[in-house]
Amino acid sequence: MKSKILVTGGLGFIGSHTVVELQANGYDVIIIDNCSNSTEKVLEGIYNITGIRPDYENIDLRIKNDVVDFFSRHKNIAGVIHFAASKAVGESVHNPLLYYENNLSTLIYLLQQINESNQSNFIFSSSCTVYGEADSLPITENAPIKPAISPYGNTKQVGEEIIKDVCFANTDFQAIALRYFNPIGAHDSTQIGELPIGVPLNLIPYITQTAIGIRKELSIYGDDYPTEDGTCVRDYIHVVDLAKAHVIALERLLNNKANTNFEVFNLGTGIGNSVLEVVQSFEKVSNSSLNYKIVPRRSGDVTAAYADTTLANEVLGWKTSLNLDQAIASAWKWEQKINKK
Ligand code: UFG
Repeated sequence: MKSKILVTGGLGFIGSHTVVELQANGYDVIIIDNCSNSTEKVLEGIYNITGIRPDYENIDLRIKNDVVDFFSRHKNIAGVIHFAASKAVGESVHNPLLYYENNLSTLIYLLQQINESNQSNFIFSSSCTVYGEADSLPITENAPIKPAISPYGNTKQVGEEIIKDVCFANTDFQAIALRYFNPIGAHDSTQIGELPIGVPLNLIPYITQTAIGIRKELSIYGDDYPTEDGTCVRDYIHVVDLAKAHVIALERLLNNKANTNFEVFNLGTGIGNSVLEVVQSFEKVSNSSLNYKIVPRRSGDVTAAYADTTLANEVLGWKTSLNLDQAIASAWKWEQKINKK
C-alpha cells in the first residue's frame, strides 16, 4: 500500500474525480468534507468505480479544534490535496465574509497543523481567475496577477500568497498551486459528476439541464465581445484530465522533484472555445438542438481566457487527452443518468 493522502473537499466535483485517480494509483485516501456543497452518496460512486471505500470524516475545517484533533489522530499523512472551498463567484460578492472564512480560515488552520506535524506536501486548488482579463493569450504562469473582481477570486490570490509565505518561512514545506481553467465533464462510468445545488451558474450544467427539460432555455451572456463569434472564450478541461494532473503534481512533491518549494502550474487544454462553439459541440454529441437566447453580458466575465500549457506539459509531464466533445458527451451522459430515477 502506498502513502496516505488527505483530500479535503474529496466529495466535491473535482475532489471526487481526484480520489478515484489516487486510488487507481494505489494511494490510501482519507477524505474530509462537511457536505456543504456535496453529499455522502458520492462515496458510493467512488466505491462503484474503484472497489475501494475511502476513509471519510465529516469535518468542518472552519472549526480549528476539529482540525487540530484530526491531525492528532492522523500522524502518517504523506500529502494533502486541498479542494474544500466555496466557489460561487456571485455569492462571494454578496457574502464576502463567508468566502474569506470558508476559503482562508480553513487554509490557515490546515497549514498550521501540517507545519506543526512536520508534514510537507501540499497541493492547492487555484484558478485562472487570478489572471483576470489577461493582457495576452494564451495565458502563461508569468502573466501578472490582476486585482480580483470578486471576493472568491481574491481568496484564490490571497490563498496562493499565504502558501508562498509559508514555503518561504519553512523550506522543509513544499507546495504546488494548480490554476484550473474551466473544469467540465464527468467520469465515463457515470458514477460521479457535477451536482450543482439549485440553478446552475456554470455553462455546461446549465446546458445539460436545459436539454433534459429542467430549464427552459440557456441564456448566453453577450454576443458583442471582441471574439470571432462575439461570445466569450474559455478553456474547457475534462475533469478526469484535471484529476490526473493532481496525482502527477503530488508525486512530484513526494519524490522531491520540484525545482523550488512553491510552484505554480496552469491546468487547461490550451484551446479556447466560445460559448456558441460549446453549444454546437453539445448539439453534435447529443444529436439534438438546444433552446438558447442571447442576453446582455454578465458582470465580471472576462472576454477570453485560455492556458499556455507549456509548463505543465514540459515540467510536470502532463497533458490533456480528452477533447471538448468528449468532455461534453460525458457531462450529457451524467445528466441523463442522474435524471433517470
Ligand atoms: N455562460 C453563459 N450562460 C450561462 C452560464 C455561463 O453564457 O448560463 C457563459 C459565461 O458568460 C462565460 C462562459 O459561459 O462566458 C463560462 O461561464 P462559467 O460560469 O461556466 O465559467 P466562468 O469562466 O465564469 O468561471 C469558471 C469557474 C470559476 C472560476 C473561473 C475562472 O466557475 O469558479 O472559471 O475564470 F473562477
